[in-house]
Amino acid sequence: MGALTISSLAESLGVEVAGVDLSSPLSAQDRHVLEEVWRTRLVLVFRDQVIDDAAQIRFSRSFGDLEIYPLGDNRSSGHPEIFRVSNCDEQGELLPADDPDSLWNNLTEYWHTDSSYRRGPAAGAVLNGIEVPGQGGDTSFVNLKAAYEALPSHRKSELDGMVAVHDWTHGYNYASDLMKSMKPEEVEAVPPVRHRLIRVDPKTGERSLFISPGYVAAIDGMSDDNARGLIEELTEWAIQPRFVYKHRWQRRDVLMWNNPPTMHARDAFDYASQKRIMHRTTIVGDARASGELV
Ligand code: OGA
Ligand code: MN
Repeated sequence: MGALTISSLAESLGVEVAGVDLSSPLSAQDRHVLEEVWRTRLVLVFRDQVIDDAAQIRFSRSFGDLEIYPLGDNRSSGHPEIFRVSNCDEQGELLPADDPDSLWNNLTEYWHTDSSYRRGPAAGAVLNGIEVPGQGGDTSFVNLKAAYEALPSHRKSELDGMVAVHDWTHGYNYASDLMKSMKPEEVEAVPPVRHRLIRVDPKTGERSLFISPGYVAAIDGMSDDNARGLIEELTEWAIQPRFVYKHRWQRRDVLMWNNPPTMHARDAFDYASQKRIMHRTTIVGDARASGELV
């Protein structure tokens, strides 16, 4: 591999990183550069990476401890740190389109910030594109720092101090047709949490919207209708093209994102006929870094 190079993919966020092979241990210097770019450019794209689950786990661990996904049957049987984001079974066979696992996967079509339902939302995630559809299934990311900064100042003041309830089971009232049954102990392990709607990064002091529409079930002091209206309004604001990077997947792309100041959503694709197999590792976040209220 040659020297590591970084090129920008969109105005607000996203870079392509070349000259690094994720199947080999990272040099201290490359790790340092990636960490810095992860912080500032939020989404990193690595092309043509041939990595297995063990290599993905090793690479991801260079940036922190890894989360275990709450639903047991979405984890890889060999590696619990791997969350299978897929419309195929573990053998790579397409699931029927109405299979609960396939439907569940379509919840990722809704804008969300990963693990915002945890006290410490994930610091980041790594997604390995093992099989990608020929058409559709692109993933879009939003820079929620830029979306916050661009708000009119009176809107910033109105939002300041607001608190949202993030609930892993929110999908039941949001997209109940996509939800599958969860074991009581799986639900109890991730009870609802409260986070400020404006997140302040404890290291940099930077502010960002923290609206995770897929998981926000309520806002303190607001009716459900008003809370839904506010989250919808802020989502529409944040997904303006100037704040977005949209990724068109090729096989063997690996994406890594900075999770708390971003949200993402996948485009539809024909999941009855097209295989899409992604393996995700998720880097544990810091509760302080989320504006969590205890
Ligand atoms: C995820 C996710 C989107 C996608 O892995 O967290 O939301 O495009 N994935 O698969
Ligand atoms: Mn996600």
